[in-house]
Amino acid sequence: MTTSPLFAPSPVPSSPLDLPVAVEAEELVRQLAAEGHLSADLAERRVREMANELAATGTYRQSEVEILLGSRIAWRNNAQCIGKFYWRGLETRDCRDVGAGGDGFDESALFEALVEHLRLAWNGGKVRLLLSVFAPSRPDRPGPRVWNGQLIRYAGYRQHDGSVVGDPGTVELTEAAQRLGWRGRGTEYDVLPLVIQYPGREPRFFDLPPDAVPEVHISHPDHPWFEQLGLRWHAFPTISDQILELGGLRYTLAPFSAWYTCTEIGARNLSDTNRYDKLPEVARGMGLDTSRDRTLWRDRALLELTAAVLHSYDRAGVSIVDHHFATKQFVRHEERELKSGRSCPADWSAIVPATSGSTTPVWQRRYEVTRARPNFAPHQAPWPTPTGGTEG
Ligand code: ARG
Repeated sequence: MTTSPLFAPSPVPSSPLDLPVAVEAEELVRQLAAEGHLSADLAERRVREMANELAATGTYRQSEVEILLGSRIAWRNNAQCIGKFYWRGLETRDCRDVGAGGDGFDESALFEALVEHLRLAWNGGKVRLLLSVFAPSRPDRPGPRVWNGQLIRYAGYRQHDGSVVGDPGTVELTEAAQRLGWRGRGTEYDVLPLVIQYPGREPRFFDLPPDAVPEVHISHPDHPWFEQLGLRWHAFPTISDQILELGGLRYTLAPFSAWYTCTEIGARNLSDTNRYDKLPEVARGMGLDTSRDRTLWRDRALLELTAAVLHSYDRAGVSIVDHHFATKQFVRHEERELKSGRSCPADWSAIVPATSGSTTPVWQRRYEVTRARPNFAPHQAPWPTPTGGTEG
């Protein structure tokens, strides 16, 4: 096993909510029973079984059904996601034994399984809600992770003058990959390699095969010149820097795919000034007066860029929702949860869309960011950061 200061084992952070594993394991079983997934008898038996396994081995193995049902509740408990209406539609893939052969450190096997995840989630454009669950941390051995905030992301190359070619949101990851020996082509949309690490080992990087990285070129329904801007985005997001905290276990690699809401791309990724910052180009194409804020050129450009994203994904046959639909579904979800006697943890600033917020039904509502288990928790960034935050 090799360690160098650059690649010090990344600690798996323990959360302040941490309770003894046995307590959380029991809570999970009780919750599944309370939600009608198993009888009181079976729950009792399962709790005893877990306690015995924990006493003997210091950990326990969850059943596939516990992982499936528990992951759905983790999603439902997450305060950041507007798409929770579909929480019962989440599918899980059991990858816990991937890479477990040999010495138990097989980065290539993890990589193959992650590629397979992308192919399954893509599903020919009808994007699936898919979570792949890899080996959890054990007392003697923290689980593997990837350094990428998402499985598919574009590189950001810092230039000598401080500007960035590509996505400024991934400069640190790009530089980390370069330190490992990765070389990108230097274009605006180079797909980053996956950086895979077992704690205590040097990370390894792997380039994704092109067929696992579907993308959409952005054109506009009314402006033929729009296509010449050369904008594009990957077809769907796959969050890969969250730990699934389930029944006292921590799954450190649990990539989650879903479809996009158009505002995430049009009103954030391609338009934020600290991301692709494309509004000035769009505005110029539209012939807007960009000399003064008061012409509202940014607002007009933002709207057309978002419309172009929606149009392009539709035309390419790739699942995407608009923010009006997404917020209406969210409110339906809240109401359904209320009927089931549950509250709906939500972070207003994450639920209100990045544009036209006041035209959506969530604007007038108030939310609480309560944190319940099971849940997803962000990994610490694998490189030192002033705030200790995560990339992405
Ligand atoms: N906002 C992130 C992005 O633009 C993705 C976050 C998850 N979004 C989702 N629709 N599941 O890539």
